[in-house]
Amino acid sequence: MKIILGPASKQLGEKIAKLLNVEAVPVAFKTFPDGESYIRLEGEVKNEKVVIVQTTSPPQDARLMQLAFTADAAKRNMAKKVTAVVPYLAYARQDKTFLQGEAISIETIARMLKAAGVDNLITVNVHEEKVLSKFPFPAKMVSAIPLLAEHFKQKGCEGAFALAPDKGAVWLAEEAKTVLGGEYGYLEKRRDRYTGQVSTEKKTLDVKGKIVIIFDDIISTGGTIVAATEILKELGAQKIYVACVHPLLIGDAEKRILKSGVGEMVGSDSVPSHVSKVSIAPLISKALTM
Ligand code: R5P
Repeated sequence: MKIILGPASKQLGEKIAKLLNVEAVPVAFKTFPDGESYIRLEGEVKNEKVVIVQTTSPPQDARLMQLAFTADAAKRNMAKKVTAVVPYLAYARQDKTFLQGEAISIETIARMLKAAGVDNLITVNVHEEKVLSKFPFPAKMVSAIPLLAEHFKQKGCEGAFALAPDKGAVWLAEEAKTVLGGEYGYLEKRRDRYTGQVSTEKKTLDVKGKIVIIFDDIISTGGTIVAATEILKELGAQKIYVACVHPLLIGDAEKRILKSGVGEMVGSDSVPSHVSKVSIAPLISKALTM
């Protein structure tokens, strides 16, 4: 096996290669003046099973093209099998049509990757796991929540309340609870399909005087976390922390979240950022050897 270092996840790819004790293949890349992407493999892949590590956080479209071109280059250079490790899978939230006339974007992406030469895919905390069953190649998801919960446990948060900001994410809180050992719960969130505006319902949760950690898959604008934090403060939570797998942190998301009363925010290196204090390299390495 060889690990191909996708331009968007070079450091993560290097960590995975080191853990698996396999060769890392660098990728030269550039963007032409008109915005088109270019990649070139800087190593041999002939007769190898290769793993391309490439996240697709913003700029999503350029990174998806880099991934597709890397898969194509691997197959052209006689790689035996191409596995794509895509920690943050862009467009996964558009996994059905919510309004008449929409596309199912993630299914288009999957077909595009298949056409480029991807034979199977591993991703991390995709919004709805069942979407992977529609892919035209084997695709599986692993969860970084236990690693994030362990990080907070090591920092003295054992027994903290694990909260999901919406019902669909309750399994994240449940998973965190198995590590933290406290209680778990969820809030009810609604998103306006036209404006994108989030509204979270106030509800009774037994968090008074407790440390609460909000677990979510993605932080984009921060609206979801800010709304949850306001409710937790009203309910008397003693301290509020945030753990998220994919810290996209668009615009001033981090500033808004910290200003709302969150003590600390921790993400994974699925999306490299300065809050990415937890590495998913051990998780991916394990998934690649199973
Ligand atoms: C969607 O429900 C996801 O799980 C996240 O809660 C959402 O993407 C976060 O977006 P934002 O930070 O913009 O509220």
